[in-house]
Amino acid sequence: MTNPPATNNARSVSVDTEQTRDLRTRMVDALVKDGSLTDEQWTAVFLEVPRHALVPEYYEGGTHIAGETSRDAWLQAVYSDTTLITQRQHGAPSSSGTMPSLVATMLEALNVEDGDRVLQVATGTGYTAALLCERLGSANVTSIDVDPDLTAAAWERLYRCGYQPTIITADGNHGYARNAPYDRCIVTFGVTRVPPAWIEQTRTGGTIVAPVCNGLAQLTVTGPRTAQGRFIGAGYFIRHREPTPAPQISPPAPLAEQPTWPERTTDLPSSVYYDANFRFVLSFTHLDLVPAFRDGNLYDLTLIAPDGSHAHITPDGQLTQTGQRQVWDDIERTHATWQDLGAPARERFGLTVTADDQQVWLDSPESPHRWPLPA
Ligand SMILES: C[S@@+](CC[C@H](N)C(=O)[O-])C[C@H]1O[C@@H](n2cnc3c(N)ncnc32)[C@H](O)[C@@H]1O
Repeated sequence: MTNPPATNNARSVSVDTEQTRDLRTRMVDALVKDGSLTDEQWTAVFLEVPRHALVPEYYEGGTHIAGETSRDAWLQAVYSDTTLITQRQHGAPSSSGTMPSLVATMLEALNVEDGDRVLQVATGTGYTAALLCERLGSANVTSIDVDPDLTAAAWERLYRCGYQPTIITADGNHGYARNAPYDRCIVTFGVTRVPPAWIEQTRTGGTIVAPVCNGLAQLTVTGPRTAQGRFIGAGYFIRHREPTPAPQISPPAPLAEQPTWPERTTDLPSSVYYDANFRFVLSFTHLDLVPAFRDGNLYDLTLIAPDGSHAHITPDGQLTQTGQRQVWDDIERTHATWQDLGAPARERFGLTVTADDQQVWLDSPESPHRWPLPA
């Protein structure tokens, strides 16, 4: 890795100094201590790659923090184990620098070997791509992001750090066939199904690490269109977006036209929504429920389904449901099933992908407890 020349302010913030090396060493020590980094080669790579050169600015709440103007706050944030929002669109985060411990976990789960060729989907800041370049060499790394502003910025920053992976601006769901086959595929945006291209472009025996629903799936490719593996941890990521605005599908009926179900109390408290293991089960059984809260109270919860049906649960268990679906009734049934199974943790689930089907299972692929992922 070489430092970029400090020709102007924007560039000079990215120079590696004793201070940045010191902060980086401390961050890496913490990642080793908490068990996110266990592999010596990846540890050396994290010590080498200057995260601050890839993440020169971020947003904290609505405030823009840049290295040029808030150097100390920026450096502390860049070298802490935090996800940093680096782009906002329509008031919501659209890109981020993934928290280093999660990047470390995902990279270690890839089980790379020297010379492996890797498809990295979701370039974002370019930090993950930089780590892969440092470990495997730029010629072995292909990175894709849908946003041309992000790929242009990442390309320049990577270049100035001495890395020259192939950077593609395209829909990452289609992979990049021209550089296939890959030995490994790592994805840092969230999907609800594994796109066929990632499997088709990764060789048989290769590994895919990707956030599926809200779990981190580690899959082995078992054939040209098949893969199987387990969930190894949490995978809350920015969801993938379409390269062009998606067509509006069946707009929900205006609220006044939707049926309102009789009010009742529920024994299932709204807090259940925040149980990480149950939330994972919800992520593959009740896709795309959007939460909303009243007055900032997380337990005064409304869950809204894509068709506009919604359930409102107060902290003391009063339930109102509106729309075609009785959303909380569905969740109560799912919760009862999960309890009957012994409230299994996320890591007891796995995923099998075939050409026609994608199914989550409990404990083993042969398990009678299986859930098809929605198409
Ligand atoms: C969590 S960020 C990636 C973070 C990256 N690992 C890092 O640390 O900088 C998610 C990225 O996915 C990209 N993305 C979203 N939808 C996409 C799509 N369909 N194809 C490719 N990239 C997409 C976004 O532009 C965003 O940069």
